[in-house]
Amino acid sequence: MHRHVLYPGSFDPVTLGHLDLVERASRLFDRVTVVVAASGKAGLLDLEERVDLFRASVAGLAGVEVEPFSGLLVDEVRRRGATAVVRGIRTQGDYEHEWTMAGVNALLSADVEYVYLLARPQLAAISSTLVRDVLRHGGALERLVPAPVARALAGRTF
Ligand code: PNS
Repeated sequence: MHRHVLYPGSFDPVTLGHLDLVERASRLFDRVTVVVAASGKAGLLDLEERVDLFRASVAGLAGVEVEPFSGLLVDEVRRRGATAVVRGIRTQGDYEHEWTMAGVNALLSADVEYVYLLARPQLAAISSTLVRDVLRHGGALERLVPAPVARALAGRTF
């Protein structure tokens, strides 16, 4: 059986937590497609840059690809012929958010399976929101985001 999972998110920007999740998902599934949402929270980076930075972060990781997406997640799952969706959970707040999203998604399409991986404790404090805050104040990014992202964003003013 060919197991293809989608990993959706805003990834504004991709963090070390996201990267860890992709690596772990790639050991569980034959193919992982990271799908970067076109719309969502008001953020920092445009869609093209979010996709490019995630691609640079997973370069060389077998079975992983990164693509933009717009529209409903359940439609994207069907379009790509995937069998499941993977998401990471860091906190109780994440759990509650995932619970409501999965509930709505299940009402939209009953045949998608959702897989949740708990964030590693040492990475669980990292969020894109806090990374954006560190960025705006010129803080060090090396322990928060993959090296290509730190290189691309360091020194830029937002
Ligand atoms: O990284 P995020 O911002 O938590 O990701 C949220 C995302 C992109 C997975 C979610 O907003 C999403 O699936 N958006 C696509 C639109 C959709 O399907 N909405 C209905 C279900 S919540």
